[in-house]
Amino acid sequence: MQFNFLISKCMSVNENGMTILNGSQLRNPQLDEVITTMGEASAKAQNLKQVITSPSRFYQTDQKLYIKSEGKQCLGILKIGKKNLFHRDLSGLVREIQPLCVLDFYVHESMQRRGIGKELFEEMLRCEIIYPEKLAYDRPSPKLLGFLKKHYHLSNYIPQNNNFVIFSQYFDNRQQNINLQLASQNQQSQYSSTPSKIEQLGTLMSQMTISSTQSKNQQQQFSKSQAPWATDQKSQQNMYETTTGLMSAQIQKKR
Ligand code: ACO
Repeated sequence: MQFNFLISKCMSVNENGMTILNGSQLRNPQLDEVITTMGEASAKAQNLKQVITSPSRFYQTDQKLYIKSEGKQCLGILKIGKKNLFHRDLSGLVREIQPLCVLDFYVHESMQRRGIGKELFEEMLRCEIIYPEKLAYDRPSPKLLGFLKKHYHLSNYIPQNNNFVIFSQYFDNRQQNINLQLASQNQQSQYSSTPSKIEQLGTLMSQMTISSTQSKNQQQQFSKSQAPWATDQKSQQNMYETTTGLMSAQIQKKR
């Protein structure tokens, strides 16, 4: 969609042509024009009676609008926001959920099927730190359903009265598993930071005079182990603990 001004004059656009607006954004007439025009084009493309995205429906809400532009052209928009929804499964069980929802998604007709939609969608997933299956989709059009099936293999859902689509994977534990994996990776990276501590302790150790027989025994034990910087993470940790133990034994002895 062509405007008679540079899009970057009315909103901040990053090097990939992306803009993220939120409802507390300061308004200006050109920005309002972009939102109004794109919102109307989106409603028309979806054959909707009512426009979903307009300045009055966007400002002062907790929604976000992702915009892709190039010079004076606005290529597409993606609007998201949280909703409180009730979901009924096949057994009739109703659950109350508060998912982040895709509320409006539109790429200009002249630019569709060129990957712009995917670019917008991926930018949103990255910024919101969410997976496609953890989103709800407000009345998705056949094109959006095709898009989600093609790019993210999402197709199974139980139709709901409220017309929001929640894919069956929404109720899986992938997010939880990933969180657990991340937690364990964090723990590992904490371990992998120990060698520098060990090196510092090693230097300190070498500066200390070890005179007693007990200390000599301890030294022998120490030399049986591998050098801390040549070990795997587990033995590094063990070494760190052994070294720390030796240090406190030395300090107590000195006292
Ligand atoms: N017919 C069928 N499927 C389509 C079409 C189309 N005209 N356009 C895109 N798709 C789907 C297909 O799966 C397509 O893959 P294919 O070309 O290999 O068949 C895939 O999307 C292409 O991916 P992208 O190029 O990344 O998507 P695009 O830039 O076209 O954006 C979008 C997808 C936003 C759905 C766009 O087609 C569009 O604006 N459509 C009109 C408005 C609309 O229906 N928006 C969704 C409303 S529902 C909601 O917002 C919750």
